[in-house]
Amino acid sequence: MNRIYMMAASAALLTTAMAADKVDFVKEVKPILEKHCLSCHGDTEKPKGGLKLNTKENSIKGGEKGTSLVPGQPEKSPLYTLTILPPDHDDVMPPKGEKLKKDETETLKNWIAQGADWPAGEVLKQAKKEVAVITPMAAIEGPKQIWKKIVGNNKITDAKLMKAYTDYIVGSPTSFEMLPIPGGAFQHSGIRSLEFT
Ligand code: HEC
Repeated sequence: MNRIYMMAASAALLTTAMAADKVDFVKEVKPILEKHCLSCHGDTEKPKGGLKLNTKENSIKGGEKGTSLVPGQPEKSPLYTLTILPPDHDDVMPPKGEKLKKDETETLKNWIAQGADWPAGEVLKQAKKEVAVITPMAAIEGPKQIWKKIVGNNKITDAKLMKAYTDYIVGSPTSFEMLPIPGGAFQHSGIRSLEFT
């Protein structure tokens, strides 16, 4: 009796563990593929390994070694299995750079296991490289003070009398620039040095 009860209990546990939340392709899978895969597997004449991962059809069609995506079967889908190889393995994907994190490979796995929904019309492109962020003027103490002074005292409303205000930030090679706008406000056109930290 006890034993039957135990078996029922573990079966229930197993079902719970397997029922992962439904993965949302656009919110969860697309960003992973666009960031980590599309630079080499995009819609170009010669994608690496002959594989384009830009559409579901192309992912299923696969590359030189056959399909990369078998909906419902993550373990047969190189799109997933190659991402969980050890980082120094010859076939690991992506082959260089940052490897996928465990939660990202799990997302791919669950998505494929759940049937690999990929809404029609979702054509993936390489994610834009992150570029140096221009520090917003207002976040830097020195310019912030100057900014306040100028904006606070600015009574000139004639655009011709206004000059761009450029200055260096004390103690750094960075300069900044503010452009006056008729009406008494200044707009900053950005911090010049990208090395500013
Ligand atoms: C820096 C470039 C690069 C990135 C980024 C990259 N791959 Fe690849 N991929 C390759 C190369 C090169 C091959 C061919 C390897 C070979 O034939 O030995 C390949 C082959 C593959 C294949 C086998 C294709 C076939 O049929 O031969 C799959 C599947 C694959 N990649 C999936 C991915 C996935 C999924 C990602 C993102 C997680 C990814 N790749 C990111 C370069 C890349």
